[in-house]
Amino acid sequence: MQVLKVDSDSLLGMAHPESLKGLDQEARSAYHTLINRKGAGAEFTGWIDLPEGDISDLTAEIIRTADILRKHSDIIVVTGIGGSYLGAKAVLEALGNHFHGMNNNDGFPHIVFAGHHLSSSYHSDLLSMLDKKDYSVIVISKSGTTTEPAIAFRLVKQHLTKKYGHEAVANRVIAITDKSKGALRKMVEDEGYVSFSVPDDVGGRFSVLTPVGLVPLAAAGINIGELLEGAADMRSAILEDAENNPASIYAKARYAMYLSGKPIEVMVNYEPGLASFSEWWKQLFGESEGKNGKGIFPAAVSNTTDLHSMGQYIQDGMRSIFETVISVEMDHKEQYIPYDTENLDGLNYLAGRNLTEVNRIAEEATRLAHIDGGVPNMRIVVPELTPYYIGQLIYMFEFACGISAYMLGVNPFDQPGVEAYKTNMFKMLGK
Ligand code: PA5
Repeated sequence: MQVLKVDSDSLLGMAHPESLKGLDQEARSAYHTLINRKGAGAEFTGWIDLPEGDISDLTAEIIRTADILRKHSDIIVVTGIGGSYLGAKAVLEALGNHFHGMNNNDGFPHIVFAGHHLSSSYHSDLLSMLDKKDYSVIVISKSGTTTEPAIAFRLVKQHLTKKYGHEAVANRVIAITDKSKGALRKMVEDEGYVSFSVPDDVGGRFSVLTPVGLVPLAAAGINIGELLEGAADMRSAILEDAENNPASIYAKARYAMYLSGKPIEVMVNYEPGLASFSEWWKQLFGESEGKNGKGIFPAAVSNTTDLHSMGQYIQDGMRSIFETVISVEMDHKEQYIPYDTENLDGLNYLAGRNLTEVNRIAEEATRLAHIDGGVPNMRIVVPELTPYYIGQLIYMFEFACGISAYMLGVNPFDQPGVEAYKTNMFKMLGK
């Protein structure tokens, strides 16, 4: 087992000396609070054990159900919002073919998402596209009552019924929701949909390794067994070493930055497939930590693309930022830069070199420039983008989020602030 590494030495070298005092002790105490389930929100720490235990029956059932669904689907529509869609989207894009939708020759359906906003034109375009496709739906809502995915599911269900007839709808819907409560569970019972439950003790943003993430991923052909194996190995590494495991190292480093007057963390990738992974990470940390006037603001860039947009600010703007770079060491889909006799673009000095090597050099050059510009940065070194290492990353960030929130003194597992917009919206809509 090779566990990914968090390299925070240079970042800690730029931390305010005061921020390092007592850091190890505070991290250790937060770690034990988390694993002993003694902190705020402890009733939602079921995810700690998720990749362990006897999940092979569930995994087999998920793969079997997903196989049936995809056999009659060119497209699978996944309706969900927040923790009910971001994890699946993140993993799918990190591991899938970048042009899967346009070059669908691997026998797996194309996954599209709905119900993660209220855009009329998006849902209109979706339904028009579905007119011409064979499709099925995975509807995900832990509470079973969230407005955005409920509206989307109502739209898609009506479309499914018109297209295939009422009787056929139940064969084209998988629902993932609470085991007993909520409107979606009631629909499952009334309409006879195949369903999976979200464990009571796992909140939305910690649910990617439950059926919430696993069912859409299995339907898309992702090896969920390897994903879970990676998460399980990371769990073992974290439980074996309370001090120097990747989650604690990462949590300590970001807390030191927070205390050093750097309240903004920018997650940086050099692989476009990781852009949605950053979105998942943003929700995980933003919704878990942003409470009581506290919390590190999670932001993200995708390089080298964003070096031509946000690069200026990061290099030279307000010095309130630190960076965490997800550094992927190997890319199996190699591209070598060709030699050109004309050399009009002057690029022959790169002829014969691997594009991955050029990308790595851009990453290192940027890292050094940002350090010179006063932006501390740490690296999370991932050997390659595979289900196994993505599983490790997911578990590492979830655990680090728990430690980090306890270090800040907030409950990582609630989200009271999310209600404010809903209260206003429901009042204005006359609910
Ligand atoms: O992390 C969370 O708890 C939230 O982001 C939820 O996942 C999101 O609000 C969707 O909730 P539900 O699955 O109940 O529809």
